[in-house]
Amino acid sequence: MTDNSMSFEASRQYNAEAESLIAGAVNSNVRLSGATVPLCFERAEGAYLFDIDGNRMLDYALGMGPAILGHAPKPVIDAVTAALGQGQMYGGQHRAELALARLIQAAVPNAEMLRVGMSGSEMVQAALRLSRAATGRSKFIKFEGQYHGWFDNVLISNAPPVPDVDSPNEHVRQPHLETRGQVKSAAEDVIVLPWNDLTAVKAVLEAPGSDVAALLTEPMMCNTGVIPPKPGFLEGLRELTAKHGVILIFDEVITGFRVALGGAQSRFGVTPDLATFAKAMAGGFPIAALTGRRDLMEMFGTGAVNHSGTYNTNVPSVVAAVATLEVLSADDGAALKRVEATGDRLIEGLRRLAHDAGVPLRVSGVGAAFNTYFADAAHDLVDYRSYRRTDLTLQKNFIQRLALAGIRPTGRGTWFVSAAHGAAEVEATLAAAKTALQGSAA
Ligand SMILES: Cc1ncc(COP(=O)(O)O)c(C=O)c1O
Repeated sequence: MTDNSMSFEASRQYNAEAESLIAGAVNSNVRLSGATVPLCFERAEGAYLFDIDGNRMLDYALGMGPAILGHAPKPVIDAVTAALGQGQMYGGQHRAELALARLIQAAVPNAEMLRVGMSGSEMVQAALRLSRAATGRSKFIKFEGQYHGWFDNVLISNAPPVPDVDSPNEHVRQPHLETRGQVKSAAEDVIVLPWNDLTAVKAVLEAPGSDVAALLTEPMMCNTGVIPPKPGFLEGLRELTAKHGVILIFDEVITGFRVALGGAQSRFGVTPDLATFAKAMAGGFPIAALTGRRDLMEMFGTGAVNHSGTYNTNVPSVVAAVATLEVLSADDGAALKRVEATGDRLIEGLRRLAHDAGVPLRVSGVGAAFNTYFADAAHDLVDYRSYRRTDLTLQKNFIQRLALAGIRPTGRGTWFVSAAHGAAEVEATLAAAKTALQGSAA
C-alpha cells in the first residue's frame, strides 16, 4: 500500500466532529501525540487495523502492547462470548479468578500471592502503598524516562527536558512534574535517577537516613527506547534493595507475558518483591495484576492495607485473561517463541536494510518489543538522556513514512510484535522500511 492509495478523509471528518465534544478528540492523552492524521478505526483482526476510510494498517502498536495474540484472537473472543450471558459483576468471587491466579502463579516467579485490578496505573499505586506499609518509610526511587501511569506521584520525570550537557557526578535528577494541576508535594517523595546506573542507586541507598521504601523500575526500559538492562544492573538492584530493606518493584505492565511468559523477571532471572502486570495479560481486555511476596501481599488480605475497585475481576476480563494465558502457556510457550522469532527477523532485516542504505538506523530491545532509533554506531544507548540525544527528527520522519505506507509502530518508534504476525508481515514491513529509509541517510 502506498501513500497514493490512502485517503484519510473520513478520519479527518471524525476528528473535526469529535473535537467539539471529546477533549482533544481522544480519551487518553497518550493518543494526543504523534500521528500525522489522528485515525479513527472500525475494526481490527490479527496483525491488521482497519480505519473508517477503509485503509488497512499493519499494526505494531497493538493498542500500546496488549494484543499479544493479535487482534480479536479467536480463543479469547470465544471464551468471552460464552461467558457474557453469565453476567458481568457479582460483587463476589467466581471460579475463573482462581483459574487465573493459578495460571499467573505457574508463570511468574515472584507470584507467591496476587491481587487483580483494572489498570497498570492502579497496580503501581497498590505496590507503592504496600511498600510504605511494610517499611514505614515514604520515599521511592524511580528512573528518568520511565512511565508508571498518570497519577500525581508517578507522573514525574517520564519525559523531562534534557540539558545539552550533564553535570558531572550529579546523578540525582531534579524531579520534573509532567502536567499542570499535579500536586507539587508529590515530587517530595520521589528520587529520580538515571536508568542503568547502579552507582547512583548505591549512593542514594547508602546515604544516612535515606528513608526509601521502594525502588520502582521497568525491568527493561520499554517506555523510552526499549533499553535492556546492562548486564548485572537488575542483579545489582536486587542486592542493594535487599541489603537496605527496600522493596524492589518491577513494573512489568509492558514486559509481562510478552518478553517471556513469566515476564522480564523470568527472562533476566531476577525476582522482585512486587511486580505489576497489565496489557498482554488479557490480549486487549482491561485487567491488571500485582504479584509478590506472601508476607507483603497478606497485608491486603488482613485489611491492614487497602486495595479496592468496583470493576476488579469483572467476568469478561478475567475470562479473557484465562484464555490468553492458556494460549500463551500451551505447547511449552510456543506462541511467545513465535513472537520472538518474528521480531528477531524484523530486527535483523531492519539492521541489514540500514547497513545497505548507509543509514544510522539502530534497533534496541528484544524480538517481542523493540525500538528503532537513529544514532552513530558508537552511541551508547543506556538511559533516557542517551535516547533523547539520538536523532529524533530522522526517527519521526521514518515513522511517518512507514505510516503512509500502511505500517504502524507507535509514534515513539516502539514496535510490538504479536503471534498473528508472520512471514508475510515481515516481508511487507521490510519492503516498506526499505523505501522509508531512502532519504534517511544523514
Ligand atoms: C510500564 C507501564 N506502567 C504502567 C502503565 C500504566 O498502565 P495503564 O495505562 O493500564 O494504567 C503503563 C502504560 O503504558 C506502562 O507502560
